[in-house]
Amino acid sequence: MSKTPVRVTVTGAAGQIGYSLLFRIASGEMLGKDQPVILQLLDLPQAQKAVKGVIMELEDCAFPLLAGVIATDDPNVAFKDTNVALLVGARPRGPGMERKDLLTENAKIFTVQGAAIGQYADPDVKVLVVGNPCNTNAYIAKETAKKFGRVKEGNFTAMLRLDHNRALSQLAAKSGRSVDSLKSLVVWGNHSPTMYADYRFVTSNGDNVKALINDEAWNRDTFLPTVGKRGAAIIEARGLSSAASAANAAIDHIRDWVLGSNGEWVTMGIPSDGSYGIPEGIVFGVPVITANGEYKRVEGLEIDAFSAERIALTLKELEEERAGVADLLA
Ligand code: NAD
Ligand code: LMR
Repeated sequence: MSKTPVRVTVTGAAGQIGYSLLFRIASGEMLGKDQPVILQLLDLPQAQKAVKGVIMELEDCAFPLLAGVIATDDPNVAFKDTNVALLVGARPRGPGMERKDLLTENAKIFTVQGAAIGQYADPDVKVLVVGNPCNTNAYIAKETAKKFGRVKEGNFTAMLRLDHNRALSQLAAKSGRSVDSLKSLVVWGNHSPTMYADYRFVTSNGDNVKALINDEAWNRDTFLPTVGKRGAAIIEARGLSSAASAANAAIDHIRDWVLGSNGEWVTMGIPSDGSYGIPEGIVFGVPVITANGEYKRVEGLEIDAFSAERIALTLKELEEERAGVADLLA
């Protein structure tokens, strides 16, 4: 007997990430090859024509798992009863900008959508914020939804998975080991150049990869800046921000959250419970293991002096961003 369809909301459905994301969700890559989905697509009124075009293409794929599609410019309709919400729709940055420069412009989107989720979504909805600056936007959505008391704060997450995947690729290239063999990576903090890609715990077939690479200068001068500034490098090369790799990371994030990470660490931006000295409520990249539709922080990792310094730096930035949106949430 076929499963009950899962309702998946995607905002910014007419945008470039949307175009890389929707077809993969509809083909079962995110929630499983036996899981029907209903897509609830949100975009601005002026983008509805383009959304219609995307829906025509979805129809033309004849996906067996696509049990329905709706398009709307009304967040209250888009988030109604939704089980998984991908908050992608927001302005991307251009050359020379930092993601936090988008805060003033994009923040309001997330109060409106947080309120819609808080009132109308399935109470167990899993929310992933992709639109930048994604940690603080997730914080805004969570804080707004909280006022309605229906959805758990922990269900609001931000996308650090692209940074995690970028770091895995760099480590594989440097160590000569396959991406697949690399375990126990984490990217701490903010999805911004202050993020701290921490490979101290990474192993490959039982070998410690940091010891294998044995090059502290590479960590400081090449690895961390390459991962931290990869988004800007892509904008510089493409003239547009990353889209296919961002969509891929969103699929990885939700797939692992829903279907489990098989005991492996993955990085998720989640509201802090105070662990590792991160103030409660701040949405911060941490290592988690996922199973049965839940994530669990990896606790008790040793934080050495270098790591403490890097974590403090990225936390400071998130605290500043939080202060910057305090008025909006008052
Ligand atoms: P895009 O400009 O191609 O598409 C954005 C879409 O969002 C457009 O269709 C636009 O009409 C829509 N939109 C704008 N405001 C909206 C609103 N209030 N409600 C619904 N839809 C709205 O941009 P993109 O390349 O798809 O990127 C989207 C966002 O994702 C940007 O903020 C970008 O910086 C961010 N991003 C994040 C990561 C990450 O790792 N977290 C990676 C890549 C991109
Ligand atoms: C990325 O990391 O590629 C995205 O956040 C887009 C950007 O602005 O860098």
